[in-house]
Amino acid sequence: MNEWEELRSACMNCQRCALAETRTNVVFGVGPPEAEVMLIGEGPGEQEDLTGEPFVGRAGKLLDDMLTLIDLSREKNVYIANMVKCRPPGNRDPLNVEQDACIGYLRAQVSLIRPKIIVCLGRVAAMRIISPDFKITRDHGKWEERAGVSMMAVYHPAALLRDPGKRPETFADLKAIQAKIRAVCPKTYQDVSG
Ligand code: URA
Repeated sequence: MNEWEELRSACMNCQRCALAETRTNVVFGVGPPEAEVMLIGEGPGEQEDLTGEPFVGRAGKLLDDMLTLIDLSREKNVYIANMVKCRPPGNRDPLNVEQDACIGYLRAQVSLIRPKIIVCLGRVAAMRIISPDFKITRDHGKWEERAGVSMMAVYHPAALLRDPGKRPETFADLKAIQAKIRAVCPKTYQDVSG
């Protein structure tokens, strides 16, 4: 087994926290392993739990549209994972203890992918990955460089569904991501814009 297969199989059989008891499927992550851009969401919702794939519900459809705007797709050039790999019941925020139990899988995914850009989708991922006092309304769209990786957070697509008034700001953030990709990701737009 290669490292990816080992990691996936450990994750699929994980019993490290109580979410293992209520999950239907583990939602490991999706996208090309050589992606230069990685997106990190919060945790699976109902549709994700049923299918085993991240962001396939309503918020996921919006996410795909957002990605299309800047020539990204999960099939081609972006890897999508979540802070926790199993659904928190009733779509509550993942507890710290659940995030702590799961963070090792995300760290391993980041080490294998070695992305140049990490985009956090929403407050929960941003607070864990960028800074514990991250405020999404204040800090979305701001770049933070760490160990050669550029990090930013945007509003979670579910927040954009609840409040379409946030969409113009998110469009600006997506454009900033596109510009950063052009600057630091040599492969991402290779077969799209040449
Ligand atoms: N919301 C998330 O944060 N992740 C998913 O995979 C689906 C919805």
